[in-house]
Amino acid sequence: MNRSHRIALVTGANKGIGFEVARQLRRERFRVFLGARNEGGGKAAAEKLNSEARQKEDYGEVTFLKIDITDQESIKRAAEEFGKQSDRLDALVNNAGILLDDDKDVLAVTSDIFETTLRTNTLGALLVSQAFVPFLKKSDAPRIVNVSSGGGQLADGADGWAPAYCISKTAVNGVTVQLAAKLPNFAVNSVCPGWVRTDMGGLNATRSVAEGASGIVWLAAEALQKETGKFWRDRKVIPW
Ligand SMILES: NC(=O)c1ccc[n+]([C@@H]2O[C@H](COP(=O)([O-])OP(=O)(O)OC[C@H]3O[C@@H](n4cnc5c(N)ncnc54)[C@H](OP(=O)(O)O)[C@@H]3O)[C@@H](O)[C@H]2O)c1
Repeated sequence: MNRSHRIALVTGANKGIGFEVARQLRRERFRVFLGARNEGGGKAAAEKLNSEARQKEDYGEVTFLKIDITDQESIKRAAEEFGKQSDRLDALVNNAGILLDDDKDVLAVTSDIFETTLRTNTLGALLVSQAFVPFLKKSDAPRIVNVSSGGGQLADGADGWAPAYCISKTAVNGVTVQLAAKLPNFAVNSVCPGWVRTDMGGLNATRSVAEGASGIVWLAAEALQKETGKFWRDRKVIPW
């Protein structure tokens, strides 16, 4: 295995913040596995990043990896497919997420919305981590970055917005500290990208995707390996 470049997997990377994280990691010379559940969108996104690299005589190779993080079989197949191409993973970015209840209050949220949201935003991150830990263990400096949200912070209470989404992000922060405790040689962190202009964040959001991706890429590529079990925004620790 060539250790001259690092290897990353980013879930939900066909668009939005995940796509930009894949782009920035490629520029950092990572080989990037671009995870997406949608084959057409995922392949097109990987090709776009590879074509950018060719035009700029730039570094890093991007490979599409089909993965639906709500589907155990899909995660298993993705890990098998990944294993055919690499025996090592250096950074896993659990980015894929959904927001279904921004117009609901906690007394109106349905069990369907609640379960679907937690299955994706919380359980998905855990199951993908479980499946890829064997590859991460082959890295000299393994990292897991869980893309969370300030909406999941408990420190200042809740403001009533998107309760299922916010609870799912509080819970994924729990996944972060549990994994950090279990995997002492890993750097496992949660990060809030800020309010970002994507399909999820909407047009009025205050940050570009490049700004939103920057703190995630820093944790995946640059932050000190000893920094683990923490919640970050803009390269600073924030309260849970
Ligand atoms: N935008 C913000 O202001 C903001 C703020 C705080 C945190 N975040 C977090 O940042 C992350 C990325 O959000 P975004 O704004 O980039 O959202 P986005 O543009 O809606 O993109 C979400 C991505 O997740 C993928 N995804 C959803 N469910 C999936 C599944 N079951 N399996 C695989 N992929 C799945 C989507 O794939 P499809 O295209 O197939 O649907 C898409 O690629 C999320 O975790 C979000 O909660 C965003």
